[in-house]
Amino acid sequence: MTSPVRRPLIAGNWKMHLTLAQSVELAKAVRESTKDSPAEVAVCVPFTALTVVAEVLKGSHVRLGGQDLYWEPQGAFTGEVSAAQLADAGATHVIIGHSERRRLFGDTDEWVNKKLKAALAAKLVPIVCVGETLDERQSNKTFRVLETQLAGGLKGFAPADVSAVVVAYEPVWAIGTGVTATPAQAQEAHSFLRQQAGKLYGEGFAAGLRILYGGSVTPETVDNLMAQPDLDGALVGGASLKAAAFMRIARFQVAAKA
Ligand code: 13P
Repeated sequence: MTSPVRRPLIAGNWKMHLTLAQSVELAKAVRESTKDSPAEVAVCVPFTALTVVAEVLKGSHVRLGGQDLYWEPQGAFTGEVSAAQLADAGATHVIIGHSERRRLFGDTDEWVNKKLKAALAAKLVPIVCVGETLDERQSNKTFRVLETQLAGGLKGFAPADVSAVVVAYEPVWAIGTGVTATPAQAQEAHSFLRQQAGKLYGEGFAAGLRILYGGSVTPETVDNLMAQPDLDGALVGGASLKAAAFMRIARFQVAAKA
């Protein structure tokens, strides 16, 4: 059984994939195939697909997310999308600080913090991503990186303001590589993150914080990952583009939490 206070969240991150027609088709398949999932289910789609996918998901159990946002409410910020625009397009969730944003587009912890503030102000559920690179893991810096990214991203809020926050542990070396973290590796990181969350905003916050795992999650790996006590869901990249695989992940099977 999963923790009664933490409903699992299985979120797909479609990244920069799919045409509008393909997006509609996949959204319909997710809507139909995950109806009996005990987990909360969400798909995070490219900006251009938000409104069409929102139409497909309207009135359904599947939540819709953006993959990033810009913190200013409006203005001359060519190429950017605000939190209010995401909400207006039908999004309820948003990914912030994904490692691809950090690595390829320069997102810093300070930016993550500003984006988080904007997301919370717009009542979006933020999925804040943290995770170490292979180099960092091999030089024993994993905990230091996680501590810095979490504290930097989440700093400066009142405890009541961060209650909607979701954290995703996404080790960079596991993303898109087919190398999934072992359940023990993931549990160790999640447990550490929960401990750090407690230091930031207290035990109550930490106990209720949903921490997702992301990095080559597949139908084959999801059950053992979700059996870990501090894993509260998954942020799924590649496998979320295949309806059957995503359905199986959303219907993960765990006999009892360790
Ligand atoms: P993959 O599942 O393709 O490894 O991607 C994980 C990820 O980055 C989700 O945000």
